[in-house]
Amino acid sequence: MPKTALLKLDEKEISLPVVVGTEGERAIDIGKLRADTGYITFDDGFGNTGSCTSAITYIDGEVGVLRYRGYPIEQLAEKSNFVETAYLVIHGELPTQEQRARFGRLLSQNAAVHEGMTRFLQSFPRASHPMAVLSATLNSLGAYYPHLATNNHQHDLEHFDEAAAIAISKVRTIAAHSYRVSHGLPLNYPRPNIGYCENFLHLMFSEPYNEYIPTAEVAQALNLFLLLHADHEQNCSTSTVKMVASAGANLFASVSAGVNALWGPLHGGANMAVLEMLKSIHADGDDGTKFIAAAKSGKGERLMGFGHRVYKNYDPRAKIIKASFYKALGSLGIKDDPLLNIAMKLEEVALSDDYFIARKLYPNVDFYSGLIMRALGIPENMFTVMFAIGRMPGWVAQWYEVAKNPKLKIYRPRQVYVGPTQRDYVAMENRK
Ligand code: CMC
Repeated sequence: MPKTALLKLDEKEISLPVVVGTEGERAIDIGKLRADTGYITFDDGFGNTGSCTSAITYIDGEVGVLRYRGYPIEQLAEKSNFVETAYLVIHGELPTQEQRARFGRLLSQNAAVHEGMTRFLQSFPRASHPMAVLSATLNSLGAYYPHLATNNHQHDLEHFDEAAAIAISKVRTIAAHSYRVSHGLPLNYPRPNIGYCENFLHLMFSEPYNEYIPTAEVAQALNLFLLLHADHEQNCSTSTVKMVASAGANLFASVSAGVNALWGPLHGGANMAVLEMLKSIHADGDDGTKFIAAAKSGKGERLMGFGHRVYKNYDPRAKIIKASFYKALGSLGIKDDPLLNIAMKLEEVALSDDYFIARKLYPNVDFYSGLIMRALGIPENMFTVMFAIGRMPGWVAQWYEVAKNPKLKIYRPRQVYVGPTQRDYVAMENRK
């Protein structure tokens, strides 16, 4: 493998170092290119840009491989659970019994939110989008825990375990409280003796007259959903978290920014968009055929839940989530779901259609995750919130990677300016 790449510019040859990852990924280090030549590289949308080195998640999008800290997602989905995987993603190793117990204790101790925060949550208008509430409330954690959010990485790192547990545990409580508030329902307190997923479902759905106890299949479907979302390397929200962190910002400010990026329909908002798409296809009396024809012509909407910047093969998460979905449906007694039938038809048609084959568009994780959320009783406007709960360990781990980097540089991309060249100010009376 070459150690350098040669670039010929204006008859001058420039030698650029080649960086090789542990899985053989190769990158050309252009860090000194501008200083040496005056050129920058141009990569609209960063599709071809490595913004950092990272030891958390490995994806081979051509083959459909996803590993956290070296462990295949299929093994973690089968043998681990969300909390243990969160520990793995953050700390780099599977926990020992003692480490797992301590992590669980930290999550339990930090599950409830400050009473002042419940009033803050109650002050949002009823119709607020839960992603707006989540982002604002996560950011406000810096106000409730100023000693963990000093914006001095060295100091914040000394309290990292506590801050990480607060982010991972409270994101779930905040999400459930915002749902209860928006429906005028009394808030539930987290319980100490049940698992992370069971606790979330209790916080969401227990009533004073009825304690919500999920079936094992339902808890497992949620567990898998969260585990499969735990990290996904340098995607839009994670890059946002790292961008904010690179300026020295604290964990809560950084993950709150990640929530805002995730909200977009081309990223985390896609699971909600999939369900909206399925409902509108159903309302039109279409079985998916007309919708696909319109998507292909470029005149209709895109087929949501299909395609991925990195996966040019079946998203491995989509396979796992689809299987767990059927189990959860069985345990909930849901037999015939018209939206599921449409989803299956869309998948079947798209997978055998030349347009989708040529562009390597396969189902992504969001194609089935909206249907799972719906079956669990999660309201549609909370689907992306659920993605945020799952992604929190990844954001925390990626923030940590930035904060502990001794050679940290602020993220500051360049641009190619294409606006007007210099011109003189025109007085108001002379403007046309
Ligand atoms: N339906 C129809 N055509 C599509 C789709 C789609 N879902 N996705 C891409 N294409 C076409 C696109 O029109 C273009 O065609 P052409 O070459 O003829 O102009 C070609 O495929 C390449 O598209 P692109 O926009 O350049 O690809 P990208 O890598 O920039 O976009 C994507 C990736 C995920 C934004 C895109 O596939 C998409 O919009 N998918 C639907 C939204 C979605 O499901 N998002 C969730 C992503 S997974 C969750 C996450 O990690 O955030």
